[in-house]
Amino acid sequence: MQPHEMQPHEIGTLRAATRGTSEFIHFNNAGSSLPADNTVDTVIRYLQEEAINGGYETEARYAAGLDHVYALIARLINARPDEIALVENASTGWLLAFNGIDFQPGDEVITSEMEYVTNHLGFLNGKRSHDIRLTVIPNDAEGNFDLQALEKAINPKTRLIAITHVPSAAGNILPIKEIGQIARRHDILYLVDACQSVGQLALDVEGIGCDMLAVTGRKYLRAPRGTGFVYIRKTAQDKLRPLFFDGHSVASVSENGFMALDSARRFELYEKSRALTLGLGAAVQQALDLGLDRIEKRIVYLAASLRNKLAAIPGATVHDKGKHLCGIVTFSVAGMEAVKVKATLQEKKINVSISRTASTPVYMNQHHLDVIVRASVHYYNTDQEIDTFCATLAAICPAPAAAGPSFSASGS
Ligand SMILES: Cc1ncc(COP(=O)(O)O)c(C=O)c1O
Repeated sequence: MQPHEMQPHEIGTLRAATRGTSEFIHFNNAGSSLPADNTVDTVIRYLQEEAINGGYETEARYAAGLDHVYALIARLINARPDEIALVENASTGWLLAFNGIDFQPGDEVITSEMEYVTNHLGFLNGKRSHDIRLTVIPNDAEGNFDLQALEKAINPKTRLIAITHVPSAAGNILPIKEIGQIARRHDILYLVDACQSVGQLALDVEGIGCDMLAVTGRKYLRAPRGTGFVYIRKTAQDKLRPLFFDGHSVASVSENGFMALDSARRFELYEKSRALTLGLGAAVQQALDLGLDRIEKRIVYLAASLRNKLAAIPGATVHDKGKHLCGIVTFSVAGMEAVKVKATLQEKKINVSISRTASTPVYMNQHHLDVIVRASVHYYNTDQEIDTFCATLAAICPAPAAAGPSFSASGS
């Protein structure tokens, strides 16, 4: 074992400081992970203070701490605090960035087959409202994003490259740095959906070279639900049209005009949960303290072990393909609907989720997948939990003779 790896005693400590780990085997971290007790307590304490002292008065007392959250996020992704806007979820962040682009009819967006439904809807809406064109780069036969196909697809009409780092319904990691190099070389705006990767993979917006990056808090970052942020590079801020303003997103306003703030905060509105903002900050602080490289290594190790053990269970088919895989493990069970697998595991105190076609429509259709099971591991999960999970699954898998077709899919 390498000295930088997370040791069993450290995992034990982290689990002891996470109430939920004693209740369930939580393999739904790609849905919403278990927050650390300190994060939950930070939110509760703040709400209690608000109830006693008043919302505005409490905010004034915590002004420095609230402001510091931007600095923490900036450290997490190697950005500047004035390049961060807080939002409630990744969809809002992504839509603020995408819809802020002044698309002209015929402008082209290039994307991957792994896009989440929000992004897919954004593209379709852009087609409808601005007559944009969409080019989807299919994965190659091994399940990897095809960089050469991207390079070939670029033309003078290409306005945006929009890529999901880690998809919702598969375990592959897209090569966002290499894609960024191509975007930079052609001077094309580059939007990254890092909803599933933040908190599980090290992110560096300078290394990625993206102009915008959208994130949610509740997944691998272990922040409370209803938190997120969007990064907008300083040089891209004036290229995007804010969709709305309030009195706090402007530097000045008069009867006849206004001046927007000279920072990403021009894309935010004033009213938001200060308690949740501090909770987000606590979660980011913990991720920074643990180190994203260590977190990533542990998650990738656990997920690889889970995939290997799943593949050995008769009737189970793992779907993840590609050179680089992360903490999301997707599979089907022969003769048992994904919904039933999930419900049966839940009765046995194991949380997983399912992914339907609509979540990642192009990929799911491309591979003829209908509904699949998603087991997503975090660093606080353990080898023992993986063994219990696999033993439980093996016990509920229908006997091969009774199994019938493996899943409502013909490929992948
Ligand atoms: C890859 C990906 N992008 C975006 C989103 C949307 O995130 P949110 O629900 O926070 O808007 C999700 C949610 O599951 C996702 O998996």
